Formats: sequence, structure tokens, C-alpha cells
Amino acid sequence: MQFFADTAVLTEIDQLNKIGLVDGVTTNPTLIAKSGADFKEVIKDICSMIRGPVSAEVASPAYEGMVAEGEVLAALAHNVVVKLPITVDGLRACRYFADKGIKTNLTLCFTANQALLAAKAGATYVSPFIGRLDDINLDGMELIRNIRTIFDNYSFDTRILAASVRSANHVTEAALAGADVATMPTSVILKLAEHPLTDKGLATFLADWKATGQSIL
Ligand code: G3P
Repeated sequence: MQFFADTAVLTEIDQLNKIGLVDGVTTNPTLIAKSGADFKEVIKDICSMIRGPVSAEVASPAYEGMVAEGEVLAALAHNVVVKLPITVDGLRACRYFADKGIKTNLTLCFTANQALLAAKAGATYVSPFIGRLDDINLDGMELIRNIRTIFDNYSFDTRILAASVRSANHVTEAALAGADVATMPTSVILKLAEHPLTDKGLATFLADWKATGQSIL
């Protein structure tokens, strides 16, 4: 499973990069607004910090605007992935970019049918939003499982990018469900390594080692 950082904050990406935990980055208009950064500049900066794919989302809801904006975003760096909403216009723009060999991430996916349409339009990634389905008492993880089954049934190449990931459990469940990628806030990535028994066991090891009076160096 690949881990993408769902943030446009450069210091967070740098922190995760140093740990070697970032295979890519996803952004969206809300994350860009939260970062306070200039959109095109921060995308160029992120693309220079990591080798993996960096999703940059168009702002226009109409096909013509999506194409024009997507062309600008794709030209910013070789690892830009053009992010498009799963609407009729977004699917049409997806086909346009797929035919040109430009990678796409079809976002705001909430049904298996939307994911099926994205795959048929040649999307590189599709982003089912787990947390926002859970928020309305639906089962976000069931969507991941259903998309996995459908994509495997027809050997679609589109990769399932689990999004709206809110917890470490979401990551485990998405991995069990067969998602190819999980994109998550920095706080969630950092939580993945945490366990109180690990901390307790390490404290005991260190105390017992100290009691030996020995040194490795
Ligand atoms: O990548 C999508 C993600 O940023 C949305 O997360 O928590 O706002 O549903 P959330």
C-alpha cells in the first residue's frame, strides 16, 4: 500500500519525507486555503520535495475550464496529477487528459458507480471518501471493498486511493479491503507507529540495558 500525505503544508511534508513515509501528496482547494500558500508555487515546491505523484485540483466546474486549468497544472512539474471531481464534466476532462497521457485523480467519489465511470474514463486514481460516508452513518469501507471487487472483475488499471482517512484503523481497514493507496493527514501517518506496549517494552529494554553498565559504541 502506498501512503500519500494529504496536506499542502511544506513543513509537514518535509517531516514525513525525512522519515521516508511519503510516496505521494494529495491536495485540494480546502487544503490549499488552509496552507495560506500560493497554489501554483506550493505545488511546484511540493513536486520538488518528493519524487512521487502530487495531486493538484482544478477549480473550474466546467469541462473547458477544467481542461485549461489542468493543462496549466500538469505543466508545473512532471509528477503533477490533475485532480478532477467525478462529475460529467470531470469525467469528460479525465478522458481528455488520459488520451494525452496526463495522470488524473478523480475525487469526491461516494459510490461504486462513480468509481466505475472514473475507471472507464481512464482515471489513474479514484478517491473514495471514507470518512465523509462514515459521517452520515454509511459504511465508507464497504465502498472500498465494492470498488476493489469491481476493478478486479474487469482488470481496470485505475488505482483506489482511499481518502478522507481519519484514523489509523481506517488505514488498516483500507489495506485489508485492497486499496492501493491511502492519503491521510500528517497526524494520522505519525500515529501508525504508536502503541503503548511498544513504549513500555522499550522503556524496560533501555532500563535493563543501562543496568548492565555496558556500551555498544
Ligand atoms: O483528500 C480528501 C480529504 O482531504 C478530505 O478529508 O476529512 O475533509 O473528509 P475530510
